[in-house]
Amino acid sequence: MVTGANRGIGLEFVRQLTQLNEPPNYIFATYRSADSLKELKEIEESSVKSQVILIKMDVTNPEEVDVAKSIVESTVGERGLNLLINNAGVAKMQPFPEITPENLEYHFKVNTEGPILILQAMLPSLEKAAQFHGDGMRASRAMALNITSLVGSIGNTGVSFTRDLAVPGYKISKAALNMAMRIIAANVKDKGILIVNMCPGWVKTDMGGKDRAQLEPHESIANMLQTVPSLNESHHGTYMDRLGNPIPF
Ligand SMILES: NC(=O)c1ccc[n+]([C@@H]2O[C@H](COP(=O)([O-])OP(=O)(O)OC[C@H]3O[C@@H](n4cnc5c(N)ncnc54)[C@H](OP(=O)(O)O)[C@@H]3O)[C@@H](O)[C@H]2O)c1
Repeated sequence: MVTGANRGIGLEFVRQLTQLNEPPNYIFATYRSADSLKELKEIEESSVKSQVILIKMDVTNPEEVDVAKSIVESTVGERGLNLLINNAGVAKMQPFPEITPENLEYHFKVNTEGPILILQAMLPSLEKAAQFHGDGMRASRAMALNITSLVGSIGNTGVSFTRDLAVPGYKISKAALNMAMRIIAANVKDKGILIVNMCPGWVKTDMGGKDRAQLEPHESIANMLQTVPSLNESHHGTYMDRLGNPIPF
């Protein structure tokens, strides 16, 4: 399941998942507006081995999250959901001291609360996948991959403060997401569900900026999909870049 799959990083995840040598049986791709589905529909129609199932879901809308949960559960049944990619996210510039409560709450709702609530909703299906697919922790069993950002690192000293200071709401929400997933990792430690926070790099999307960013979406996602199968219990609850290098919280 990929959230925010109609454009940017989420769209490229769906494209590359359909093209894997052993693609998933089902890919649940979520979107918010039917007007934004052109590219996602093209992938859905051209996918040969995977059935791409489009689900309308705003991560801040509990009713839509419930509907998504029902669709996933009735489709995957006892085999469960192997991989949740919590990708949907927002970034809206507003430096301190201008920053408003609305800006802070907007980032927190989508970037922090959203992934927590989606993971909570999908937990029974992830647990089923973990029960169905043997032991150990790995993506082919059950995993939540949370797309976070290096700019949410408090410990990293290599950030550009000029650029990063423009988006405190975003940085705070990603730092909170990292903490949330660290706590959840400790909670689900015995359930066999691997939880990882991963930064995709600076990617040419609407959010990353198509002129200034360093990576094409296909490079970033290819890197992440190469890293994911190598992850195991030693990576549970950690924070890393797309190549698997640790990032300090
Ligand atoms: N691009 C980068 O350089 C970069 C770097 C580090 C981390 N990231 C992270 O990567 C993820 C994807 O970013 P991106 O670059 O692909 O951004 P993007 O091009 O702006 O796409 C954002 C996606 O999130 C969806 N979304 C926004 N608010 C949502 C909500 N309330 N409910 C459900 N979906 C929602 C959007 O749907 P709509 O089309 O309906 O708005 C869209 O599909 C984000 O979590 C971002 O923080 C990106």
